[in-house]
Amino acid sequence: MTHSTRRVQPKMERTAGDPPTKSPGVLTLVEEAIGPDLLEAEQILVEELSSVNPYVSDILQHVTRFRGKRLRPMLLLLTADACGGIRHEHKVLAAVVEMIHLATLVHDDVLDEADTRRHVATVNARWNNETSVLFGDFLFTHAFHLASSLSTTHACRAIGRSTNLVCEGELSQIKERGNLDLTEETYFRIIDGKTAELCAVCGELGARYADAEPGVIAAMEQYSRSLGLAFQIADDVLDLTGNERSTGKSLGSDIAKQKLTLPIIRLLATAGEPAVAEIRQLLAHPDEQTREKLAPFLERSDALQYSIDRALQLAAGARSQLDCVPPSKARRILAEIAEFAVQRQF
Ligand code: IPE
Ligand code: IPE
Ligand code: MG
Ligand code: MG
Repeated sequence: MTHSTRRVQPKMERTAGDPPTKSPGVLTLVEEAIGPDLLEAEQILVEELSSVNPYVSDILQHVTRFRGKRLRPMLLLLTADACGGIRHEHKVLAAVVEMIHLATLVHDDVLDEADTRRHVATVNARWNNETSVLFGDFLFTHAFHLASSLSTTHACRAIGRSTNLVCEGELSQIKERGNLDLTEETYFRIIDGKTAELCAVCGELGARYADAEPGVIAAMEQYSRSLGLAFQIADDVLDLTGNERSTGKSLGSDIAKQKLTLPIIRLLATAGEPAVAEIRQLLAHPDEQTREKLAPFLERSDALQYSIDRALQLAAGARSQLDCVPPSKARRILAEIAEFAVQRQF
């Protein structure tokens, strides 16, 4: 699909935390700060997932050809760093959360009938839905197999609980498909489950396994949860306005699958008649052109900017939680990641 709607300008208000340094880009800063730790986490992941079964190893090779942004491992390792230091357990847990994330993506692409992810064909497109379901299960079970290698059971239980809530979030989204009267409240409940939960547990585990105080653990969890919400809102804006070449994934699936997201909820609430009737008609009968047909309505409304502003407020709230830890390079990068979560184009 093509980019057809106006670019929304994220305006970042700085309320707390460290002022982000402007250059180099945040991903370069992450690489400089925790590059070797991320690499070690990745090696742990590859080793855990390795299989002698040629069918399985083919799929593994395919999905690891392009790595994602590694947001969850970054959150886990940087919160650990900001709370006192990265230990071996953190790297194992970084591999675990990335595996859980990957499993949810493999399953999500079946639900959304997506054909591209991380610039390559999805498992469902390259193989089939049955393979995706089972390969997702393979990733989930490996994640818990790996987490259970730690000497304490806390991480296993916490990640188990978060993964349950991710599934509940996706289930609620399925239940609400086609509901053109979806409220913001229900939307936020859905994204809190499907996206923010896994981010939240990363902050919690980063801090806890660095022996942080309970108040600091709670702050790191809240930072990551708010960031996760902001990240998903930005993702939902990209689903409507983004470019498949830069995101590397199929877009427009929220409309195609009649999953209402914040910009559309806002549009329906503010467009007024007769536009609302026309928009509802478009949403009720989605086809290949629906995203483009919605673009002029979005341009005439504040729906995209409103959504970005909500995401920016959440990102600012996330940053304010960082005051709980002493100033450090890791804290500065965490503050920048909150901004990146909203401003990214991929
Ligand atoms: C995609 O997550 C799913 C959402 C929660 C929006 P990412 O955008 O973090 O995916 P990768 O790991 O970078 O591919
Ligand atoms: C991602 O949701 C799946 C989870 C968060 C579990 P989306 O369907 O909104 O994300 P993309 O756009 O496909 O990555
Ligand atoms: Mg989805
Ligand atoms: Mg999807």
